[in-house]
Amino acid sequence: MSVTIKSAREIEYMRIAGKLLEEVHNELGAFVKPGISTLDIDRYGEKLIRERGCIPNFLNYNGYPASICVSVNDEVVHGIPHKERILMEGDIVSLDAGLIYKGYHSDAARTHGVGKISKEAEQLIAVTRQSFFEGIKYARAGRHLHEISAAINDYIDQFGYGVVQDLVGHGIGTKLHEDPQIPNFRQKRRGIRLMPGMTLAIEPMINAGGWEVCWLDDDWTVVTEDGSLSAHYENTVLITGGEPELLTLSL
Ligand code: MF3
Ligand code: CO
Repeated sequence: MSVTIKSAREIEYMRIAGKLLEEVHNELGAFVKPGISTLDIDRYGEKLIRERGCIPNFLNYNGYPASICVSVNDEVVHGIPHKERILMEGDIVSLDAGLIYKGYHSDAARTHGVGKISKEAEQLIAVTRQSFFEGIKYARAGRHLHEISAAINDYIDQFGYGVVQDLVGHGIGTKLHEDPQIPNFRQKRRGIRLMPGMTLAIEPMINAGGWEVCWLDDDWTVVTEDGSLSAHYENTVLITGGEPELLTLSL
């Protein structure tokens, strides 16, 4: 396992890749409404990425057939966009998107409500997002990687939600998936020591019910085993000498 440390020049490219992806996500979030298809989201997302002179990094990744992963309700991640899958008022939809700018990758996910959604769904989305922020309190040079994992897990446990174990966050840079793997659940080992210049995609995937998931016959779509709702939140994060820098989110 080798974790890359990005140079100042590489970090500049990753900042731009991150900023452009943030713009794409903001546009996609405003686009979500009842009546559109998940394929409409993919088409629009790909257009937004290409308009910025970038390449959608998910398209054809290990054979994935689209640019944006669109996962509705009990779909956890890697939902495949389809023209017949129409968003309905009350659904929740996780959009996972990524792009390549001058050879550098960014990766981020957001979960949106479609129209008016239940209190339970609102809370799941808010808690999933907050778990990311609890995690990155430990995304600092000198800390160990699994302190992030434990912080996410501890926060989620208070709500009785399930933390998905079969999928994890990851390093990111000239490849979409680099070392290290970043679990969202507690680990026995403390993990690598974080250093300035590491770039990490931290991405809690949280189920309203149990943590167990299964794969649909399309070999991509991950769903909750118990049919409960699931939310996803992700940013590409730079480890610095101080506060972590969120490359895909301006606060
Ligand atoms: N953000 C996702 C991840 O880190 C990327 C989706 S993989 C794809 O795993 F194949 F669907 F593109
Ligand atoms: Co990712």
